[in-house]
Amino acid sequence: MRVDILTLFPQMFAPLQHSMMWKAQAHGFLTLRLHDIRDYATSAYRQVDDTPYGGGGGMVMKVDVLARAVEAVRGDDPCPVILMGPTGRVFTHQVACELSRLSRMILLCGHYEGVDERVRELLITDEISIGDYVLTGGELAAMVIVDAVVRQIPGVLGAEGAAATESHADGLLEGPHYTRPLAFRGLTVPQVLRTGNHAAVARWRRKQAILRTLRHRPELLLTAPLSEDDRYLLAEAIAEAANLT
Ligand code: ADE
Repeated sequence: MRVDILTLFPQMFAPLQHSMMWKAQAHGFLTLRLHDIRDYATSAYRQVDDTPYGGGGGMVMKVDVLARAVEAVRGDDPCPVILMGPTGRVFTHQVACELSRLSRMILLCGHYEGVDERVRELLITDEISIGDYVLTGGELAAMVIVDAVVRQIPGVLGAEGAAATESHADGLLEGPHYTRPLAFRGLTVPQVLRTGNHAAVARWRRKQAILRTLRHRPELLLTAPLSEDDRYLLAEAIAEAANLT
């Protein structure tokens, strides 16, 4: 996948040069291009923003500068141009999977009070928010999106993990994991994980995933695709949580 990021702060993207995103680039799954929006400003002071019509505080990113930047980067390719902003649709695992099927996307990082509305009308095909809070700019959101999307591309995780069993992949949160030592400060690894009984381990893991989801994100259980066995485990978990057993 090719990802072009338009930003006023290209130097903020150093985190994408490490860990899994570094590997994804080294192995050809991800081609990342950073573009400095200021390079497309033509005024003497390379101005990228201006005061809002109608007054009020803050600055608004200029449509002429952004149009030049987006059109130069996009070329003739009709690929999605996604604005990072708190008024967009909310980013979820499902959106990450959807975007991971694209061959290319352009991410536009907003700043200041926002972008001139005509940017949305003329240039943007989608707008995404990473949550109901306001960030100083879209850069952190773009990094979150690139990471979550690229790890869904088949082959990126390799032997290091299977995206299919991660939290949210099946509508539930992941349960606990343990490694050596067996005992630490009085806490011991659950017995079932040491039995070698794969069916019992799988059932225990599933129940822990359901329990954790019940505790931390109960609303997910309303839409998670639960099997009949899962529903039995859920009933058990609820009974235990309510001290009914
Ligand atoms: N820019 C500012 N706040 C944001 C948010 N919540 N998500 C994406 N981009 C943003």
